Amino acid sequence: MKVTVVGAGAVGASCAEYIAIKNFASEVVVLDIKEGYAEGKAMDLMQTASLNGFDTKIVGSTNDYSKTADSDIAVITSGIPRKPGMTREELIGINAGIVKTVSENLIKHSPNVILVVVSNPMDTMTYLVHKTTGLPRNRIIGMGGALDSARFKYRLAEALEAPISDVDGMVIGGHSDTGMVPLTAHATRNSVKVSEFLSEERLEQVAADTKVGGATLTKLLGTSAWYAPGAAVSGLVQAIACDQKKMFPCSTLLEGEYGLNDLCIGVPVILGKNGIEKIVEIKLSDAEKAKMQESAAGVSKTNGLLEL
Ligand SMILES: NC(=O)c1ccc[n+]([C@@H]2O[C@H](COP(=O)([O-])OP(=O)(O)OC[C@H]3O[C@@H](n4cnc5c(N)ncnc54)[C@H](O)[C@@H]3O)[C@@H](O)[C@H]2O)c1
Repeated sequence: MKVTVVGAGAVGASCAEYIAIKNFASEVVVLDIKEGYAEGKAMDLMQTASLNGFDTKIVGSTNDYSKTADSDIAVITSGIPRKPGMTREELIGINAGIVKTVSENLIKHSPNVILVVVSNPMDTMTYLVHKTTGLPRNRIIGMGGALDSARFKYRLAEALEAPISDVDGMVIGGHSDTGMVPLTAHATRNSVKVSEFLSEERLEQVAADTKVGGATLTKLLGTSAWYAPGAAVSGLVQAIACDQKKMFPCSTLLEGEYGLNDLCIGVPVILGKNGIEKIVEIKLSDAEKAKMQESAAGVSKTNGLLEL
């Protein structure tokens, strides 16, 4: 199993590290446009192999796509991250050009590759990859909901004063401060609805904190986060590589599901060796449906900024 990670920056390197530590890939190629940067990150990570006990070979490449040839899965993290006060949508101008070129180069060298898009604004970048590559929709996956759900579980556990392993929950919708739809009514602690333990006001606070999870970290760090994003990407890559049939909320091209068309947005999907093997349509309340519609309108508005 060969995995390429484009962008050896904060998220790309974190993602490569988690993939290596999980020890399911034979090779991870890390590629960056900055001279020597990916080679440096790869060498540093390889020097953790004997310490962390993995056999995955990590190779660095300065923009040489021949090294990525015949990748099974490729992750696109190349582009600029946001700075404090910025929205993800403000990154579109620079990142659209980068994501388009990178995806074309990847497919040229790995015609059967499954792409995982991370660069922001992620739902719009995922849509751009669909529009410009024409790959079938099962092979283009946007990562946002897996991260947002991890942040939701963190906030739920905090409110419940419970260990995170007790908690389950999911965030669907667009990967933006206003677009996320944390499914508070479906969240559970050991199969008991969290609404049994938390007031409506406290749950609303959990949802609000989840939605600004990325912005909160960007303010603290001066740039966007990388550990949880890297771990979330590695979870998706592992589910595909190991044909796990696991369910994650991912950004995918909708063709009528959830009453939506012609956009990529986060909904639950089953991930296996073919990428997105199924889009799961869960029953939403009228209020959740309205939030999803509003979120979709926001994503479509950002998509309208693309020069296609
Ligand atoms: N989807 C999510 O949940 C999520 C989470 C966190 C970050 N992000 C996004 O991921 C992206 C990367 O974030 P980061 O913190 O790693 O940024 P970073 O600046 O640390 O790393 C980005 C890397 O991309 C490289 N790059 C730029 N253009 C390139 C090109 N044409 N080819 C190859 N490499 C190129 C840069 O040299 C840099 O090393 C940002 O757009 C950020 O907003 C998304």
